[in-house]
Amino acid sequence: MTMISVSILNADLAHLAEVAKLVEESGADALHYDVMDGCFVDNISFGLPVLRSLRSCTELPLDVHLMVQDPLRFIGRFAEAGAQMLSFHIESQSDAAATIREIHAHGVRAGIAVSPDTSLEQILPLLSLLEKDDFILLMTVQPGWGKQSFLYDVLPKIKALRAVLDARGLPLHIQVDGGIQDVTAALCREAGVDYLVSGSYLMGAPCPAEAVRGLRGEG
Ligand code: DX5
Ligand code: ZN
Repeated sequence: MTMISVSILNADLAHLAEVAKLVEESGADALHYDVMDGCFVDNISFGLPVLRSLRSCTELPLDVHLMVQDPLRFIGRFAEAGAQMLSFHIESQSDAAATIREIHAHGVRAGIAVSPDTSLEQILPLLSLLEKDDFILLMTVQPGWGKQSFLYDVLPKIKALRAVLDARGLPLHIQVDGGIQDVTAALCREAGVDYLVSGSYLMGAPCPAEAVRGLRGEG
């Protein structure tokens, strides 16, 4: 079954506990938490204290997407604050292999995030460091903001990664993030995605549970 992680970046953050409840009730598999440091991307979102508060509001796995310049410095702190999935960008300044090792050392699932303009070749040597249920996050918008339009040019990259994972028999997930709604979700599933992140579409849906089922390709 296709898994769904709900981004709360554009949710009503004045009512975080209610947002977490809404995400739980939608039947999604995880809550996606976008961390932006104002350096790696030209935007600042939320960080450790808000994640700690969120941890006490929900049992859902917290899927933390680090859009920060030096993710390695913060892995331990985000793991202790409650992250169960931690993705970092291959374009960041941290050593990728060391960052993956640090994430695993904290018992957290590791994800390598790849921006739209970055080629797949950059992450291929790292795949052997990933463990079962780790993931590759292919960005389908430029990182930094919600509510952007899906970049269709990323679809061939998704298909190419699916082919590599299948050929090597690697038990890793392909996650996509950005501009995911019913139509783009179907294209991503067809291309080989098994983990969708969706923010504004799900948060604005009249019935989030129905929208989650739609993203999974059910009903
Ligand atoms: C973009 C973030 C996304 C974003 C998704 O930098 O990583 O997670 O919040 O939002 P939508 O679904 O609105 O594109
Ligand atoms: Zn994200």
